Amino acid sequence: MNLSRRAFARSCTLTATGRALVGALPGLAQVQGEHFNTATNHPVPAIQDIETTEQKNARMQWFREARFGMFIHWGLYSIPAGRWDGKEVPGIGEWIMNRASIPVAQYQALAAQFNPTRFSAAGIVGLAKSAGMKYIVITSKHHDGFAMFDSQSNPFNIVQATPFKRDPLKELAAECRRQGLKLGFYYSQDQDWTAPGGAAYKTGDHQPPTFHWDPAQNGSFAAYLETKTIPQIRELLTNYGDFPAIVWFDTPTKDMTPELAGKIVTVLNQHPKLIWNNRLGGSYQGDTETPEQYIPARGYPGRDWESCMTMNDTWGYKVDDTNFKSTETLIRNLIDIASKGGNYLLNIGPEATGEVPQPEVTRLQEMGRWLAVNGEAIYATRPTLFGDEAGSFSSTEKDEDGKPKFIPSWKWRSTTTSNRIYIHLFEWPGATFHLDRLPRQVTGAYLLADSSRSPLKVTRTAEGVDVAVPATAPDPIASVLVLKTE
Ligand code: GLC
Repeated sequence: MNLSRRAFARSCTLTATGRALVGALPGLAQVQGEHFNTATNHPVPAIQDIETTEQKNARMQWFREARFGMFIHWGLYSIPAGRWDGKEVPGIGEWIMNRASIPVAQYQALAAQFNPTRFSAAGIVGLAKSAGMKYIVITSKHHDGFAMFDSQSNPFNIVQATPFKRDPLKELAAECRRQGLKLGFYYSQDQDWTAPGGAAYKTGDHQPPTFHWDPAQNGSFAAYLETKTIPQIRELLTNYGDFPAIVWFDTPTKDMTPELAGKIVTVLNQHPKLIWNNRLGGSYQGDTETPEQYIPARGYPGRDWESCMTMNDTWGYKVDDTNFKSTETLIRNLIDIASKGGNYLLNIGPEATGEVPQPEVTRLQEMGRWLAVNGEAIYATRPTLFGDEAGSFSSTEKDEDGKPKFIPSWKWRSTTTSNRIYIHLFEWPGATFHLDRLPRQVTGAYLLADSSRSPLKVTRTAEGVDVAVPATAPDPIASVLVLKTE
């Protein structure tokens, strides 16, 4: 899509407003909200603009096979944990400074209290690994501007401004290397509520054009980019060895013109293995679509994508949010996403002590137990060969955008490899599982949970098959039926 500069700026304003609502009101976070305008011509060509398909496939390979990653939102906001002046602040926890219009100096003062001595990189990476996750993406700097890493270019960081004095990113990088996971860094390149010139989304009575609430936030966006964002991105890309594998940008605004974004891309281009998402701004499409808090009805054929989701209703820790999804929902989400060719980036929000809330630990361990048996049907698989099993678009009901509403069905999903079709059964079919049509010849069937792989009886019907299954499901959440198709 080629947009004139004015049309581009206008569409970004709209996007920014829509996203502000998504960020601010958790209820709306479920809305299929994000749309980032992209173009193919950029002042500075990005790697995606110039590489061959083979080069792209090689660069994306580990990510496409991974399917499951851990998002970590952790920063100063975990200290107030969603409460300010004794009251719960509505909305997601990491937005507390914006939602409660906390003055810059008062927010910065939180750093002196930040001493997460119970943080354990080995513990968190071990938790991700035992959950069956293959990568971690952690907030290196969120919209509050506080760097969770050792930064020479700006003193508002965990090493210089807190009694903790350690660099958790360095510790996580070492542990990820040791335990065999990839590590990525989330970086809020555009919004920064404590740096002069950093952008802010509107909430409450914040006024245009800047939506700032403290004169200390005023300044030039271009200067903020030159003096903070770009130097910090350089630090993140050079101080952690072979990591980050991913840079995860967020909340672009109209301030991020194609020219300014091009300056960031110049830095990114020096790291040819890097994967980065579609949220840089300046019309760059990046590598990945980033549906937030939802699973797209049909995936994004032809694009890599990753659904990022919370376990409760906040990214950053909030003491009052105990609205946790069930393990059943989380496992089904993972399967649904894999069946559509995407990755699941599932969030944890550690506390100010560094500890991971117990409900999150429990759910991750339960997911890990399921994946230990059924991971073969998730990792490095291809999307379904069918499609309609995911649900259908309503002919009468409309979604928030006025488009036909997608009504998911939760009977089964499918993933594929070159010689297997995996059927993830949410509803146990009784004595026989029937498929009307089948694009491949089935040469055998067994249950993935059955370590002896006893063959199940397969009967070919007109165009499909009947598979005789035992009376009860091996797993109450999802049992995987394997169809051999050599
Ligand atoms: C939103 C929020 C942010 C969160 C991100 C995760 O854009 O602004 O707080 O980090 O979503 O996808």
